[in-house]
Amino acid sequence: MSFAKNLRCRECGRLYPLDPIYVCEFCFGPLEVMYDYEGLRRHLTRERIEQGPLTIWRYADLLPAQGEPVDIGAGFTPLLEARNLGRALGLRRLYLKNDCVNPTWSFKDRVVSVAATKSREFGFDTLACASTGNLANSVAAHAARAGLRALVFVPADLEVGKMLGSAVYGPVLVAVRGSYDDVNRLCSELAEKYRWAFVNINVRPYYAEGSKTLGYEVCEQLGWRVPDHCIVPAASGSLFTKIYKGIKELAWLGLVEWRQPRMSVAQALGCSPIIEAWERNSFDIRPQRPRTIAKSLAIGNPADGYYALKVLAETGGYGVAVSDEEVVEGMKLLAETEGIFAETAGGVVVAALRRLVQQGRIDPDETVVAFITGAGLKTAEAVQDALNEPVLVEPSIASFEEAMAQRSGALPTARG
Ligand SMILES: Cc1ncc(COP(=O)(O)O)c(C=O)c1O
Ligand SMILES: [Zn+2]
Repeated sequence: MSFAKNLRCRECGRLYPLDPIYVCEFCFGPLEVMYDYEGLRRHLTRERIEQGPLTIWRYADLLPAQGEPVDIGAGFTPLLEARNLGRALGLRRLYLKNDCVNPTWSFKDRVVSVAATKSREFGFDTLACASTGNLANSVAAHAARAGLRALVFVPADLEVGKMLGSAVYGPVLVAVRGSYDDVNRLCSELAEKYRWAFVNINVRPYYAEGSKTLGYEVCEQLGWRVPDHCIVPAASGSLFTKIYKGIKELAWLGLVEWRQPRMSVAQALGCSPIIEAWERNSFDIRPQRPRTIAKSLAIGNPADGYYALKVLAETGGYGVAVSDEEVVEGMKLLAETEGIFAETAGGVVVAALRRLVQQGRIDPDETVVAFITGAGLKTAEAVQDALNEPVLVEPSIASFEEAMAQRSGALPTARG
């Protein structure tokens, strides 16, 4: 049962009913979902959560949707202790939150499962989004499950895997000649004209709440403890701010003991408006024109950039921007040490983590959680030229041994 009570303006604090609205009529500030925390404090226990399903819906009390969930199994993904990567980087308590294994292979299934449920509750028949790729995949899949029409808008130059990963669910896939920021502008205009549920525009307050579940899960999986340091990739900045909101809520509700986590944010250098403002010690985002292989993070004018900067300031977190070469190295390092093939956003996070360690900004004994938010087959282009070629052989031992000898200069040891 949801304890959501109101929408509240993040700027002036005005309250609104739980309607499909997203900006304050008075100051144009963004709206956010508020809950009956007193009621939650009386009602919600660790045991109640632990008895719930192994999806984001175990936290239904803390989510803003009432209806039957549109559920294809988002959430409760593994939190892996990363001993090999930790050793390579010099960290003794490194964890990876592996959101590659969600139903459409990114964390976006969390936000979309909530948004689709709420949109159906509001009576919308069309689920839509402006996306850098992963969101479109997830909206198309959840709409299929919910029996809603899907209209997903993406930049036309997306990776093949991201296009295919939407098209397979049968949506209207609209490839816009332009950047994500162009796509977003078009969709904002369409949202005024048509009565569709744009999950990240007019349903955004509800959608964004889905990302809190990453904060809840990490604490629960650490044995109801708050990590010392979180490293999170950012595009709009929403995910980053909501993970922090999730951790704070658990502490308000007495479900974890409060200790201040440090929240650090990672972007690719070719699109790093949040980091650029952080480095200037400013809360003013200067929009950028993205040029990076990390296309999922390529938002030049991030909607939640200002709030991400506030979280960085409040938690003493760091901003890190990494080059495209570092992104590829990060993807390979993660795959070769931990067996996780992440997309470019994962490469951004691992590269940022490495940089923070090199700069002495992480203590080797801190409990660090790196958020790996999407899977690698969707961005195969990014790494394919940086990998070993297959060893091509005829189907004979002689051919195999000859190829191996050429490759390494030594034959494999024969058995017996
Ligand atoms: C894989 C991945 N990670 C992280 C993000 C960042 O999400 P946000 O826009 O909430 O900052 C995105 C956004 O599309 C993404 O696709
Ligand atoms: Zn307001």
